[in-house]
Amino acid sequence: MKRIFLPGALLLPVMLLVGCGESETSVNRSAEQDSLREVLGIPEHFPLPYVPEFNLPTEEKIALGRRLFYEERLSANETQSCASCHEQARAFADGETVPTGSSGERLTRNSQGLANVAYHPTLTWASKIFTNIESQLHVPLRADNPIELGITDGVLDEVLDRFNDAPLYSQLFANAFPEAEPGVTINKISHALASFVRTMVSADSAFDRWLAGDEQAMTDQQKEGFVLFNGEKFECFHCHGGINFSVSYRDSNSDPGSLSVPFFNNGLYNVGGDGSYPPNDQGLFELTQNPNHRGLFRPPTLRNVAVTQPYMHDGSIETLREVVLHYARGGRRIEDGPLAGDGRLSPLKSGLVRGFSATEEEVDAVVAFLEALTDETFLTAPEFSDPEPE
Ligand code: HEC
Ligand code: HEC
Repeated sequence: MKRIFLPGALLLPVMLLVGCGESETSVNRSAEQDSLREVLGIPEHFPLPYVPEFNLPTEEKIALGRRLFYEERLSANETQSCASCHEQARAFADGETVPTGSSGERLTRNSQGLANVAYHPTLTWASKIFTNIESQLHVPLRADNPIELGITDGVLDEVLDRFNDAPLYSQLFANAFPEAEPGVTINKISHALASFVRTMVSADSAFDRWLAGDEQAMTDQQKEGFVLFNGEKFECFHCHGGINFSVSYRDSNSDPGSLSVPFFNNGLYNVGGDGSYPPNDQGLFELTQNPNHRGLFRPPTLRNVAVTQPYMHDGSIETLREVVLHYARGGRRIEDGPLAGDGRLSPLKSGLVRGFSATEEEVDAVVAFLEALTDETFLTAPEFSDPEPE
């Protein structure tokens, strides 16, 4: 049937005329999307992210998730919360090369920022199996190697009882899951946390204001950087394109059957000249054991990237300028030691990381553009902060 676009006031009579056909479904669908958009706080100029049917957000779930995010009782030894590794002022990264979990074990990967994580079709630096935030959260909550929050099987009941026994929490859980059996479960915890994390949308950087028509929002240098970023010399946009500056992208209307889940090797390492990465973390290879998957990582979003240093999956690059120079060289050369090798010559490096010659001014301009992606509203929004203590 042909779709006709009509002002809202005319919609109802038309629906009555056509009866319960296709147009009614699309009206309902958009009403549902409008309400999801409102609950999650998605601004008009952004698409609605993918939300799994099994965990539709409510104000109550989000409020509970926010409190849990900052709750140290959520770690076995009550020393860490999600916020220990995900700080709002750093766009929910943590400023460490790699973080230390609650029992003192060092993790292998850099803590990721959480801005706009709802738009990623896969979660973490390099995994195909986590396709929603709910499932990924079982890692920080439950993993024992390495330990993050450390809620392993042996202490699970003890941790859940902390929440069952706290009157404030039992009330919050009952409000958030009115239809479920009473009692706190690990799934309720991950569902509430995921609902909160999905609201972490960053959409008000200088770049966004410039896009919306404010000519003054970006400096001339930043505008020049934007052009270079999107040009065939620098090639950044091929992997960091779209609203989230990552071609790893999913929204509420993406067709699940044709989702793209991209991973790239950007030439950080070439240990021994065969394209290997350090043996403790070879990216997607860790999961698939396919030798061609050595060094494959999901392109991260670049929103707020100026406050999420250090960079890359292992935090091995300190500054944005060094990142741009890494791409200009076409890969990183490590002179000596066990990781020696020239990333530029890696047989597994993406064909889009070819190296280019750039002037100092061009490098500065691209760095300045990346700084225009910092969103002060997001970094200071009260709705993402630690709620009042009980
Ligand atoms: C000890 C530090 C630490 C703690 C505690 C921690 N995280 Fe993380 N988080 C990380 C690291 C490191 C990664 C990247 C993991 C990887 O790539 O394997 C990550 C990844 C994530 C991601 C995926 C981001 C993306 O872009 O795909 C989400 C979501 C997340 N964490 C949320 C949470 C929540 C919610 C909690 C609390 C339950 C939490 N984290 C606790 C360190 C931590
Ligand atoms: C072939 C795809 C590809 C191209 C082209 C590319 N990147 Fe990346 N970028 C990635 C991947 C993948 C990572 C993560 C790699 C890792 O951690 O090992 C990354 C990481 C980064 C990071 C670190 C972000 C963080 O949170 O740690 C920055 C900054 C960055 N890229 C900027 C750029 C710029 C600027 C350009 C253009 C000069 C560019 N990228 C070109 C794929 C690409």
